[in-house]
Amino acid sequence: MTYRNLELTSKEKILIVTLARPEALNALNMRTMEELHHLFSEDLPQQKGYAGVILTGKGEKAFVAGADIKEFLKLDAESGFRMSQQGQEVFSLIERFPRPVIAAVNGFALGGGCELAMACHMRIAEEHALFGQPEVNLGIIPGYGGTQRLIQYIGKGKATELLMTGDMLNAEDALRLGLVNHITPKGKSVDRAEELLMKIFAKGPLAISKIISCVNAYFDYGTDGFLKEVQDFGATTGTSDFQEGAHAFIEKRKPVFTGQ
Ligand code: COA
Repeated sequence: MTYRNLELTSKEKILIVTLARPEALNALNMRTMEELHHLFSEDLPQQKGYAGVILTGKGEKAFVAGADIKEFLKLDAESGFRMSQQGQEVFSLIERFPRPVIAAVNGFALGGGCELAMACHMRIAEEHALFGQPEVNLGIIPGYGGTQRLIQYIGKGKATELLMTGDMLNAEDALRLGLVNHITPKGKSVDRAEELLMKIFAKGPLAISKIISCVNAYFDYGTDGFLKEVQDFGATTGTSDFQEGAHAFIEKRKPVFTGQ
């Protein structure tokens, strides 16, 4: 697929994905959602050289200012249902991606933008970032997982307030409430995300993928997360990486993991 709305660049083992429709504050139109779907379901699973991904927005003003409202005018109940289903599928692909995905939130993260950031495994916010689910202003509700993931991060009471009022959270409040992991000065979120990824890359990659699936299992009501942990712990103790990690500790040296 030719990517028109995503700009892909790489640095070491990191793929940096820039949502690039700055004239619409990087709003997620259908084409962008298709590109994200293709990237996380077709291209990235094969591109094993990328050990982590950073998502960010083009320009200084916005990460993503929501789904593209201009495309909303054509929606009816049936197409709205499909749009929500497809959008949730794309964001689940990101949430379940077995390598770390970090959102570098460089401005507005509203509606689908907040939902996209929440689907990533961690969020770095620049000091001017603003988060919110303003869908009620349009007479609709979030459709890409916002009613569920916002509660997971900040709790039911505050999430209900934000979902009902459409109010925005600034970066400080987002940090205090646990929605973001770190705050950086303007223009520095990608650098901070890179630092975090480099730290993670020194660990066993299979263990990292199991951490992602066990954390997700906590929120999957059909899965016993404790049982999943037992199974995944067993799976990691059976790897060469575990042998290497344990021997390196005893031999007082840094481990060299191979992902086997
Ligand atoms: N969908 C489509 N276009 C959008 C958009 C969206 N979600 N958000 C912003 N844009 C467009 C604007 O229409 C405008 O385009 P124009 O220049 O052709 O008119 C351009 O991006 C710049 O936005 P503008 O509103 O002029 O910037 P601002 O600084 O005054 O306000 C926001 C910034 C983010 C507060 C405002 O754009 C906004 O409220 N956007 C919608 C947020 C939203 O409701 N998202 C959830 C959708 S479900």
